[in-house]
Amino acid sequence: MSSTTVTETVTANDLAGSPAAPVKPVEDGPAAFSSSSEANQGYKYLSTSDVDHFLTKGWLLVPNAIKQDYIDSWMKDLFVRIGYDEHDKSTWHTEYLHLPRHREVPAEDFCPDAWNKITEIAGGLDRIDPVRERYYGDAFIVNFGSEDKTKLVEDKFRPQERSGWHVDDDWYRCFLDSSGNAMTIIHVFTDIPPRGGGTWLCEDGLKGVVEYLYDHPEGVDPPIDHASTFCAGIKDCKQFHATTAKKGDVIILHGLLPHVSSPNYLHYARPISNPHVALHSPHNFNRPDRDYSLLEQVILNNLRRESIPEYKPTRERKFWYPRNAGFKRAKAQEELERMITTAKAKGLDETSVDSIYLRKGTKEFDEFERRNGFDKEPNPVSGLLMEQHPIGKF
Ligand SMILES: [Fe+2]
Repeated sequence: MSSTTVTETVTANDLAGSPAAPVKPVEDGPAAFSSSSEANQGYKYLSTSDVDHFLTKGWLLVPNAIKQDYIDSWMKDLFVRIGYDEHDKSTWHTEYLHLPRHREVPAEDFCPDAWNKITEIAGGLDRIDPVRERYYGDAFIVNFGSEDKTKLVEDKFRPQERSGWHVDDDWYRCFLDSSGNAMTIIHVFTDIPPRGGGTWLCEDGLKGVVEYLYDHPEGVDPPIDHASTFCAGIKDCKQFHATTAKKGDVIILHGLLPHVSSPNYLHYARPISNPHVALHSPHNFNRPDRDYSLLEQVILNNLRRESIPEYKPTRERKFWYPRNAGFKRAKAQEELERMITTAKAKGLDETSVDSIYLRKGTKEFDEFERRNGFDKEPNPVSGLLMEQHPIGKF
């Protein structure tokens, strides 16, 4: 499905309520950065149209970017892990599942062509956190759809009315310049046809997110009520995109691009994974040399600013154990036991099973924990989310 290109202005004050600090009005006028800006010359892996697409829409699809070997080997025991029969849909009891990660490999090994573009979007490899989320894995999100949805003759899905629009931000205090989730990545493990449960994106929703954060230099702690804060303006947005993709595609989202799950009317298993890219330092909106990353340019463009020298967070930065990892990791042991049982039924022993959870207590496991933020303490106020959340109403 293609996007519409209508834009609608939502002002900072409409969204922000009472600002915590004096608000400098957002400037009118054209976006400061485009694919022809001086800062956007000389990319090796991003084409001019890639740059233009990311700057104007906040996302980019990289086709056929995941190595086939990883798709094959990780998908092979998907149904073993879940405990459903792949060929008997009556066993698909839960429509929407988030799984934990058992295997992970360096990002550049998993999807080299996408990684090259990711590093250029980040402003260079030297801006990317060398540890956090530098490996990609098999923490699948499976949208199965349902028998009922296949019988619907008319789609009731209206993206503006959908609850659940959000950005991924459950592990840090979120400021305008936060780069803990610099990019949200969608790894596609099966074809996603139209009406097949592809993630919806709200391209003109970025503006509401950055304006809210600009107006709240005190930052926002998870769990964030996106509907009344970052995403309050989405009901009036016009520029939506329903992702469709081929197996092996990688979709790169700006970390502040609102997105939401959608109905899978086709009732097939649609697994994606949804890791992130973290930078080691906050975004910088006041670079005298104007060497702004595309991530920074998207934020500046949405604020109609060329720089934001006055922006300064007014509280300390905080990082916690990822809140939503609670319920996903609680499934790991059960999945592991199913993998071992299945291996034994084939005459194999436990050593044939590939899971990081068989290597607890090793240096490798400690590094896995650190890469994924599991070495941090949960937020003492909000704790961990321990229940699988449903796909929600449409
Ligand atoms: Fe998300």
